[in-house]
Amino acid sequence: MRGPCGEIAFVPVAEIARDFGTPTYVYDAAAIVERIAELSRFDVLRYAQKANSNLAVLDLCRRHGALVDAVSAGEIHRALAAGFDAQGDPPPIVYTADVFDRESLDCVIEHGIAVNCGSPDMIDQYGESTGGGGEITLRINPGFGHGHNRKTNTGGAHSKHGVWHEDLPDCLARARRHGLRITGAHMHIGSGADLEHLAQVAGALERLAPQLGGDLHTLSAGGGLPVPYRAGEPASTPETLASYFRLWDAARRRLEARLGRALRLEIEPGRYLVAEAGTLVTEVRAVKRQGGNHFVLVDAGFNTLARPAMYGAYHPMSLLPKNSRAAGAGLEERKVCEVVVGGPLCESGDIFTQDEEGMVRTQPLPEAQVGDLLLIGCAGAYGFSMSSNYNSKPRAAEVMISGGRAHLVRARETGADLMRGERIP
Ligand code: LLP
Repeated sequence: MRGPCGEIAFVPVAEIARDFGTPTYVYDAAAIVERIAELSRFDVLRYAQKANSNLAVLDLCRRHGALVDAVSAGEIHRALAAGFDAQGDPPPIVYTADVFDRESLDCVIEHGIAVNCGSPDMIDQYGESTGGGGEITLRINPGFGHGHNRKTNTGGAHSKHGVWHEDLPDCLARARRHGLRITGAHMHIGSGADLEHLAQVAGALERLAPQLGGDLHTLSAGGGLPVPYRAGEPASTPETLASYFRLWDAARRRLEARLGRALRLEIEPGRYLVAEAGTLVTEVRAVKRQGGNHFVLVDAGFNTLARPAMYGAYHPMSLLPKNSRAAGAGLEERKVCEVVVGGPLCESGDIFTQDEEGMVRTQPLPEAQVGDLLLIGCAGAYGFSMSSNYNSKPRAAEVMISGGRAHLVRARETGADLMRGERIP
């Protein structure tokens, strides 16, 4: 969080809570722009919008030169609504998936969106729909993967993602049958992997790409760049990012020499651009002891931020006393204790402090009182985008801070939104 305690990007959190209510996701636009700039060495930065697909975030990315990845017809519609062109070179929008549901197939055909196929069937379905001709890229599963959690590991035999590395000749034959040229090779082995694991991808892509034939002109390093959620976890530094780029650039140059043509190098991060720029602002609604545990219950639950319940993910938290402008002010007399932080849902797993096995854990926080604000940090990626209406809870508001002002970029859902489309027969 940039800015003094109690402020997000120099706007007092108490003001944000007063003006927009809680729970509210707050994004610092400047922090996202900084991250985009850090990756400018790559020829193309393609934002994986599944991390945060709010139109204001997409628009910000577009204005700062990023292109975008989409995994559904809905994400394609979002990209178009945010002003990305449907077609271009490099393609502004790429649909990357392992299946075409009927809606997404119709959508890519209607708008002429580039496709990155993660299964042999996608090649046939796309070829049949185009009626012959055109180009595709292939997402390859190199046979290994890595992630911050087994659910975010997207490579290897246990993963459903990508075309299996031994099936490339079959994919090539299918593409030829449909008159499709394979112009790109893409690999994404997991989310939140460390740079060492990510580095192995460059070697695997370098080994496999030559099998793809004479039309190859793009390599994609995928996403997966880690961010430090816990204090003390290694952050990517300009040096580590530079060495990651050098490694990919070297693989690209060796391939260029071998294939005798220029190759474009793409990177496709989601989390890295937005995670640290986002804070979930919640209000403490109940404080109670259960045996030895001290519970702090806030107005956001796993319907709002699913990562702790889904992966045992850690998010840093801080407390802002009611009616205070600065975190810390008014906290001096409060003793710090180990607390379990949970939400309002009717489910015992609705806990923000839990481990991968679902065991309840604690975080040290100053003793909370009802009405205090609890700030959940590093929540800009896979926060709102994974939220749901479970327990008929409206989804949170989203606010973006830019130019020193807080802008509402998604209104809080209402009771009417919850029942839209429902009928009693
Ligand atoms: N490219 C592809 C093909 C992907 O499947 C993903 C993420 C990305 C890029 C972006 O990965 P990133 O740079 O954000 O790590 N919900 C999980 C993360 C799931 C990621 C799925 N694919 C979480 O909250 O950690």
